[in-house]
Amino acid sequence: MNESYFDEFEAPSRLLLGAGPCTVHPRVLRAMTQPVVGHLDPLFFQIMDEVCEMLRQVFHTENYVTMPISSTGTGAMETACVNVLERGDTAIVCRNGYFGVRLADITQRCGANTIMVDSPWGEPADLNALEDALKANPGTKMVGLVHAETSTGALTPLQDAIDMAHRYGALVVVDAVTSLGSHEVRVDDWDIDVCYSASQKCLGAPPGLAPVSFGQRAMDVIDKRATPVESFYFNLQGVAEYWNETQRVYHHTSPITMTYAMRESLRMMMEEGIEERHARHARVAAGLRAGLAAMGLELTTNPEYQLNPITIVKAPEGVDEGAARARLLNEFNIEVSGGLGEFRNKVWRIGMMGEGARESNVLSVLSALEMILADAGYEVAFGASVAAAQRSFANNGS
Ligand SMILES: Cc1ncc(COP(=O)(O)O)c(C=O)c1O
Repeated sequence: MNESYFDEFEAPSRLLLGAGPCTVHPRVLRAMTQPVVGHLDPLFFQIMDEVCEMLRQVFHTENYVTMPISSTGTGAMETACVNVLERGDTAIVCRNGYFGVRLADITQRCGANTIMVDSPWGEPADLNALEDALKANPGTKMVGLVHAETSTGALTPLQDAIDMAHRYGALVVVDAVTSLGSHEVRVDDWDIDVCYSASQKCLGAPPGLAPVSFGQRAMDVIDKRATPVESFYFNLQGVAEYWNETQRVYHHTSPITMTYAMRESLRMMMEEGIEERHARHARVAAGLRAGLAAMGLELTTNPEYQLNPITIVKAPEGVDEGAARARLLNEFNIEVSGGLGEFRNKVWRIGMMGEGARESNVLSVLSALEMILADAGYEVAFGASVAAAQRSFANNGS
């Protein structure tokens, strides 16, 4: 092979302020440079146990079946659905954004008769419509809800929806991909049956692991399945036999390095404190929103249900969303995300997640946006958005 065929790749240190992955702390990157041990090495079993223990704390659960799946968040979505559902079951999925649409796609692929409960993008799930759907579909096996809709910036309060689904005998599957680590997620107190997340957002690790937690009601349903789970890789019982400390039966080769990373990012969360971490995300998001408002920019989300880790802002009339985003990346080294689905080419999604949720990052992205928008002909008072964010931080105890 020609020696100069490939140069060594040196990734730039971007400021990742999009929808994930978020910027990863050097401590986590350092953990990933540890030598790889075998997936059946007793030393690695200890790492696995520590990860599970910390995940239980983050999910606020005593569920034994709490562990990371070897995949990104989508694999956790598939794990949840493919284990709980059998062909011909009924599932109701609340769709208030792109990831609700994906969840419904997955339940359909599992062969479930899927009932959609739609609400407008930017709003939480519609509980009246959910109740109508539950009444109209007795015997519904599963209700799927996205806690934090990353495509629209909306948080769906869960407790009433969970209680309602249980009154009708359905299991509740909650997507906490973007909320875990930035909003309260209480699996046991709220009685969530299946909850899943992903490593690369507010947990602060790179993409590649997806924590799940299954409660007893869900495990009983899985135990009583009439048909085998239609996936080998995501078959919960197989995966759990490897994570269970009394079994440790090989299922697939564990991503060792990613597990080191997750352990370190969870250790950092424990050191900070889970509540303190949520408060940091809230404080940083409030400053970002104050700055965007001072720039006269509009958000897409109902303000009552605004997420901490991601803010969706409309590109102003006449400003090319993609070109502005490219300038942020190329000239300021800042990544923000564009819109998904019906918000494509219309919005910027600014994420303040995990290590990225810092006051200094808000000031950087606001000042860069002011310059880019001014160049694009949008009227900007330089410094106004930064000052508004600073005032918000000062008032909120930063
Ligand atoms: C709410 C939500 N669910 C699921 C996913 C899918 O996760 P992944 O892209 O890690 O597969 C995402 C990713 O952004 C998400 O935001």
